[in-house]
Amino acid sequence: MAANPEPGSVAEVRESLGEVGYLADEPAALVAYLAQRLGKPVLVEGPAGVGKTELAKAISRATQRQLIRLQCYEGLDEAKALYEWNYRKQLLRIQAESGAEQADAAGWDAVHGDIFSEEFLLTRPLLQAIAATEPVVLLIDEIDKTDQEFEAMLLEVLSDFQISIPELGVIEARTHPIVVLTSNNSRELTEALKRRCLYLWLDYPEVEREMEIVRLHAPELACTPRTWRGRWPASWSRSCTGCASWTSRSRPRSPSRSTGRARSCSWAPTTSMPRCSPAR
Ligand SMILES: Nc1ncnc2c1ncn2[C@@H]1O[C@H](COP(=O)(O)OP(=O)(O)OP(=O)(O)O)[C@@H](O)[C@H]1O
Ligand SMILES: [Mg+2]
Repeated sequence: MAANPEPGSVAEVRESLGEVGYLADEPAALVAYLAQRLGKPVLVEGPAGVGKTELAKAISRATQRQLIRLQCYEGLDEAKALYEWNYRKQLLRIQAESGAEQADAAGWDAVHGDIFSEEFLLTRPLLQAIAATEPVVLLIDEIDKTDQEFEAMLLEVLSDFQISIPELGVIEARTHPIVVLTSNNSRELTEALKRRCLYLWLDYPEVEREMEIVRLHAPELACTPRTWRGRWPASWSRSCTGCASWTSRSRPRSPSRSTGRARSCSWAPTTSMPRCSPAR
């Protein structure tokens, strides 16, 4: 495997994530550090909008590794996640051989060996990450949307960084990918998967921290200390404090529509526009 410069300390990782626009708290920085030092996958769980996916993207930017993303959904299968054979191309190859003048048993053996070679393989994100020649970050986003069979299929990648293809043999990782799995906790993941990962729980931030994140995304907003008194602050339209307070206060009141950092960040810039207020 190709050597990849490893970070020297947790503080260094935190700083490099900050430089690429991700404000990591202590646990997030520690897990990102350990993922690189120990080469173990990271499972990030937490409510919507708290920065799970963004953490993987930020690690990719900070380490200058390409990001390969597998977006999970119900019914995702091997053919979309790992690889599939290019049947059309295989068929053309077979037809070309059967049209040849000396189409005999030896010719068929050669074709058979040929159509199950890498040339006829369509690589999907997991195989792309394993076969990559440069170090990458593999993001397996929203793993809880898949089923247990899919998780079982992932185990070989997560523990041995390899993929077995019956017709080709075992393909081992050429570089060691940093693997980040995210989950919104919509179902309990299997013990087998959890055991192979470092674990990070990301929660809603404190108001001060949220202010920092909002300020990062909408630097045009003024950040004056302002306390929330159950109403919109008088000048909330230009205050990231008002914005951050509103989102954190709205969480316990509307669990069905809890407000993550994503919402504060996305509507913060609109607060400096005239007559704009967040949807309740
Ligand atoms: N610590 C942070 N530093 C900087 N920006 C952040 C941070 N956390 C969240 N954000 C912002 O919040 C946005 C939403 O984050 P992200 O999409 O990663 O949430 P998520 O936890 O993956 O949500 P979901 O479960 O809905 O996919 C990001 O685009 C980013 O702009
Ligand atoms: Mg996400």
